[in-house]
This record gives sequence, structure tokens and C-alpha cells, in this order.
Amino acid sequence: MKAISLLIALAWPLAAQCAPEFDTKQIERGRYLVRTTGCNDCHTPRYAQRGGNVAEKDWLIGDAMGWHGPWGTTFPTNLRKTVRAMTEQQWLEYAGSVKTRPPMPWFSLHAMEQDDLRAIYRFVYSLGDSGHAVPAALPPGRKPATPYVDLHPVMPGAAQRQ
Ligand code: HEC
Repeated sequence: MKAISLLIALAWPLAAQCAPEFDTKQIERGRYLVRTTGCNDCHTPRYAQRGGNVAEKDWLIGDAMGWHGPWGTTFPTNLRKTVRAMTEQQWLEYAGSVKTRPPMPWFSLHAMEQDDLRAIYRFVYSLGDSGHAVPAALPPGRKPATPYVDLHPVMPGAAQRQ
């Protein structure tokens, strides 16, 4: 009996550290925010093409489809890995200051209230770790070997004037 309580006493703080217990209301709010602020559109494979009809277990695992433009080629990251590599406090600071290449709307993260960023962290954390890291971004001018969406601006008016 003594050994069991000792084991619990030792394991409890460890378990609490590994798997934080989050308020279900905040997780629910995080789910709502992820659904309505567009994170899935890019960070979940085929989410937009399927009209959002992707099982939650496959959300936010990153996408190997590149976004190719004047900035080079970027890949929507695996956000489940991103949040798992950080404490909640680190996420709040990171999300409030991170600047990325397009088409990630990093400025929208900066504009979010702390409670909303916290809710997103808790929801994404609750999804568990899944998937692989995405391919590394490429610098401008390099043709990607992966599938990609071309986002180079085309200006027909400007071309006609030449
Ligand atoms: C239009 C597509 C798009 C949308 C919408 C989008 N992202 Fe991204 N996101 C990207 C791409 C592409 C990158 C990689 C940018 C780079 O490599 O510079 C990225 C990078 C990030 C990063 C930094 C890399 C990392 O994992 O640490 C974070 C954090 C992030 N996104 C969070 C979010 C969240 C949260 C949402 C929803 C509020 C969101 N993104 C919506 C495309 C998008």
C-alpha cells in the first residue's frame, strides 16, 4: 500500500507535466476558433478542397503541398508538433510575435486575444501528436519537387502597357 502511494506521489506530477489537464470549455473554444479562423484551410491537407469534410484526427498535421511565390516555397507546418514543442506560455509569446513568409496570416495571430491563443493551444494540444514534419521551405527562384500552388501575381493590365 505504501509502495503504491509512493508511486502515485511520484508519478502524479510527472503525468501532470506530460499531459496537461485542460478545461473542456477552453478546448471547445479552441476548436471553434480553429474552424472559423481558417487554420485548417492551409495546415490540414485537402481541408478546403473537401469543404471542411476532414476528420478531426487529421487536422493541422501540416501539408506537403507548397505555396510558391516571390518569397520562395513555403509549407503549412504541422501545428500539432509546433504546440507540443512549447509550453503554453512560450506559445503565447511566440504566436504574439512570430513573422513568417506568405501566405501565413501571422498578423492575425498577433491580433488575437491571449485567451483565444490559449484556447487554440489547448485544443491543438488535445489533438495529440501526429504526422511528420513538412518539407523545408525553399528560397525564391527554386522550383519545388513537391506539388505546389503557384501564387505569382499576374498583372494583365501592366503587361499590355509594355
Ligand atoms: C493561407 C494559408 C494559411 C492559413 C490560413 C494559416 N496558415 Fe499558418 N502557416 C502557413 C504557411 C505556408 C506557413 C509556413 C510559413 C513559412 O515557412 O514561412 C505557416 C506557418 C505558421 C506558423 C509558424 C510555423 C510554426 O509551426 O511554428 C504558425 C505558428 C502558424 N502558421 C499558425 C497558424 C494558425 C494558428 C492559423 C489559424 C489562425 C494559421 N496558421 C492559418 C499557412 C497558413
